[in-house]
Amino acid sequence: MKTIIEPFRIKSVEPLRMTTRDEREDKLRAAGFNVFHLHSADVLIDLLTDSGTGAMSSEQWAGIMRGDESYAGSPSYYRFRDRLREITGFEGILPTHQGRASERILFELLGGPGKVVPNNAHFDTTRANVEHSGARAIDLMIPEAREPRNRHPFKGNMDVAALERLIAEFGSDAVPAVMCTVTNNSGGGQPVSLENLRAIRAVCDRHGIPLFLDACRFAENAWFIKQREPGQGDRPVRAIVRDMFDLADGATISAKKDGMVNIGGVLLLRDPELLHRASDVLILTEGYVTYGGLAGRDLEAMAQGFEEVLHEDYLEYRVRSTQYLGDKLVAQGVPILEPPGGHAVYLDAKAFCPHIPVGEFPGQALTVALYREAGIRACEIGSVMFGGGGHEPPPMELVRLAIPRRVYTQSHIDYVIEAIVAVHRRASELRGLRIVEAPQVLRHFTARFEEM
Ligand code: F0G
Repeated sequence: MKTIIEPFRIKSVEPLRMTTRDEREDKLRAAGFNVFHLHSADVLIDLLTDSGTGAMSSEQWAGIMRGDESYAGSPSYYRFRDRLREITGFEGILPTHQGRASERILFELLGGPGKVVPNNAHFDTTRANVEHSGARAIDLMIPEAREPRNRHPFKGNMDVAALERLIAEFGSDAVPAVMCTVTNNSGGGQPVSLENLRAIRAVCDRHGIPLFLDACRFAENAWFIKQREPGQGDRPVRAIVRDMFDLADGATISAKKDGMVNIGGVLLLRDPELLHRASDVLILTEGYVTYGGLAGRDLEAMAQGFEEVLHEDYLEYRVRSTQYLGDKLVAQGVPILEPPGGHAVYLDAKAFCPHIPVGEFPGQALTVALYREAGIRACEIGSVMFGGGGHEPPPMELVRLAIPRRVYTQSHIDYVIEAIVAVHRRASELRGLRIVEAPQVLRHFTARFEEM
């Protein structure tokens, strides 16, 4: 069979609301041309994020009913903990309310002025949490990752020679941890190979620095390893996942991605002393160690979600359906970051609207156009997200079409393709934007714009 089908059927549906172009024009103006300010009820196809937007399975909903809301020692916690132990091999497992809570706790303990944290590429909240602690966050992507048309199979890899240079420059005492993001979200949802993780680990070992994974999309990363890394094709995804975690001293995880839940996070730690200190901070700011700011039912949904994400027919459908969107766009001449990522396709806004200078936010202009044209909500990952506050503009201006898990069907995606192709044909009409209002940090969430 050639067709990869959705390996599930639909039990409960949510209606979508159609809007007219005039309505969308009004909504855009009211939103200050920032799609984060839109009401989601005014969005037809919401590709803003794959985070917390997935559909849960009937088994997860059954878990929600089974959730035990005891303050301490709930059986839901033990199910969650045992599932994560089985998958990751870690003993120290803390639940948190989402990924950035794990990051905040970790960098409160490891960060601070004078420290430097390298990563293949920090996601926005990771960077913000490192910097909030007073430390510096430095991205070390391989050079191929900055070339949108380069189809390197592991474009998420870290530049290991650059890591060596960074440690030589700052000294190993200044580097409290090396982070590696799998898959690399800011760099296009691209995977990191086991070979690269092993090379990073070897550098960390030589300098006595711990290695942490930002493991939000660990299962998608493992699926890419199975597909693309020599010698991995016949191995179960679970074994590859275990190899990835075995290389790490800890991990921050947003369960809103490959945990397949609407809310939840995890902090994994091997060092007992660090685990002890992290537990204290968790209790101080999130909740007791057996619930970490979540309800018992959320822990049940995670325990089940982390299991389902490792089903290989699910992963095949997941990655192939993202590829379907990317391949069709490429076939119609739409510039994307190639190859397509696991959770998202990233439009290359610099190539899409070359007439808009970086200072007028080509990615934001394209994001506005997709909503105006077709009610599609995407997310700018470019100078709006990473510029400002004295930062250099990022190497690429991207617009991410993130695919929620198990939510949209092939005809939804076909509609998205049609809309993007239509916008591309009239790309020269798109107008740049200027910021009229922006906060100090994470400005993409709340900034307001005016069209040029
Ligand atoms: N790390 C990565 C790689 C992420 O993609 C995210 C979230 C986080 C950390 C933070 O997790 O949202 O649970 O606090 N990414 C979402 C996105 C928001 O749209 O890509 P969180």
